[in-house]
Amino acid sequence: MALLVQLIGATKALEVGVFTGYSALRVALALPPEGKLVACDVSEEYTAIARRYWEKANVAHKIDLRIAPAVDTLNQLIASGQANSFDFAFIDADKSNYPTYYEQALQLVRPGGLIAIDNVLWSGQVADSTVQDTRTQAIRDFNARLYKDERVVISLVPIADGLTLAMKR
Ligand SMILES: C[S@@+](CC[C@H](N)C(=O)[O-])C[C@H]1O[C@@H](n2cnc3c(N)ncnc32)[C@H](O)[C@@H]1O
Repeated sequence: MALLVQLIGATKALEVGVFTGYSALRVALALPPEGKLVACDVSEEYTAIARRYWEKANVAHKIDLRIAPAVDTLNQLIASGQANSFDFAFIDADKSNYPTYYEQALQLVRPGGLIAIDNVLWSGQVADSTVQDTRTQAIRDFNARLYKDERVVISLVPIADGLTLAMKR
């Protein structure tokens, strides 16, 4: 992701799901000095660890951490006129909200910008028809929707737990 951020010359990035801050750290390090990352999470506890390492890595000033349900934060960004202004977005939080995060990110990212979505292979369970629980089915449905979505060009990269890259047309 750090490479992708540099390849597209991103200066403004968004992250949905921070946890202890590793992916945000990688993205923030890849952004130029004036770059900004808006990072969304609900947990003060996890992100306190993130903040510590962002400070140590001298990237804390680039990261705007918003502690609130990400759906609300993304709606606020849209309402404050930031649609089409982000270069890169990474979606890696609660899976049931993926369709909403995706639609919001699609508004926030500029044409030619990139949305990365994690866990789309769900430990391979999306390809196992014997697995029919609601979370697996939700990811399956989400993948099928993206595959047909003409607003983006996608590539599902089968590394780790599966990462879909969607470029906004
Ligand atoms: C898989 S972790 C993120 C990992 C991180 N992106 C990384 O790779 O280092 C998922 C995070 O999503 C957060 N989360 C869960 N529900 C959320 C919500 N409704 N809004 C914002 N964040 C949420 C959790 O608190 C957790 O820290």
